[in-house]
Amino acid sequence: MAAAVNVADLEPLRQRVPSLRDGSAGNIIVICNGKGGVGKSTLASHLAAGWAFSGARVLLVEMDPQANTAEDLGFTANGGINDNGKRQADAVLQCLPLEPAGEVRPGLWVAPGGAYLEDVITEELYCQRRAASQSGDPTWMYMYASTIRTIAREYDWIILDVAPGSAVLQVQAMVAGDWVIVPTRSDVSSRKGLRTVTRRIAEALPYNPDLTFLGIVLFAVGASASRVQARIRSALESDVQGAAPVFDTAIRHVEAAAQACRTHGLVASEVEHAARAGEREGSGAHAGLSVDASVRKSAAALAKDYRSLAYEILGRIGRINAGGS
Ligand SMILES: Nc1ncnc2c1ncn2[C@@H]1O[C@H](COP(=O)(O)OP(=O)(O)O)[C@@H](O)[C@H]1O
Ligand SMILES: [Mg+2]
Repeated sequence: MAAAVNVADLEPLRQRVPSLRDGSAGNIIVICNGKGGVGKSTLASHLAAGWAFSGARVLLVEMDPQANTAEDLGFTANGGINDNGKRQADAVLQCLPLEPAGEVRPGLWVAPGGAYLEDVITEELYCQRRAASQSGDPTWMYMYASTIRTIAREYDWIILDVAPGSAVLQVQAMVAGDWVIVPTRSDVSSRKGLRTVTRRIAEALPYNPDLTFLGIVLFAVGASASRVQARIRSALESDVQGAAPVFDTAIRHVEAAAQACRTHGLVASEVEHAARAGEREGSGAHAGLSVDASVRKSAAALAKDYRSLAYEILGRIGRINAGGS
């Protein structure tokens, strides 16, 4: 199959990219792990919603055919917004700036993922990579960067939730982004996925020297002794050869609350609030949610983890921008 995009068409868009970045603090966060099921979409949705709730303008881009952020934020059945990745695929293939599909919370815009990314982008990107290996022209590496960087100043934060299985998509995200955050569980295969990310970062750096590996998030960890947690943290940091620290805040393992979030299309703080409203109104309430008190309590604890992680992430970005580490 021949590549559909003529990379020469990218040039006008790509030429605007360096001028957009000059002197401005990077605001594009890449959430990536080479393994599925490690919390990428859940984390991306919670960070995006949390920052939007605190008044920021946020764009969440799901670069994944899985389309789980649509479930996490409850717009799966909203045909006007959930386009299965079509707008995103069209923008990349037509070398145009990315248009969000809609606003799913005040201040939170989305570019959904879905089947169009499988069918179009992954095939196209692999074709481009093959063509580039013969021509030596690296312009294709900037397909996503051109599409996303040109709109970066319209938002306070852009979050890219990247598919685990596609090397080309991961590299595209890292050429487009500023900060990489890797959620991981503590098992062997998630840690293998973590090491994959360090390879992708190395591939992207020649094209995007400002990319920073911000940190690792321990995701869905049990309430193990602090000694055990400390051992996991140092193992993860040595997996990436000290390239990035593990955030102090871990996301706790609370299966039922996590399921309630995805089932209802709400983030943890919304489940907590809706459950409280449900308890006040009694059964039959429309605005409220009827869940076990234990689920409401763990949703509250989970919401606290995400708030504290979001705060830590902003603190670390702020310190690096100020010249620290
Ligand atoms: N705090 C949590 N504790 C336990 N399981 C969780 C938690 N948060 C999310 N999950 C579950 O983890 C699974 C994978 O999450 P997801 O974000 O879709 O991963 P990925 O995007 O990396 O494939 C989902 O089934 C989700 O319900
Ligand atoms: Mg996902």
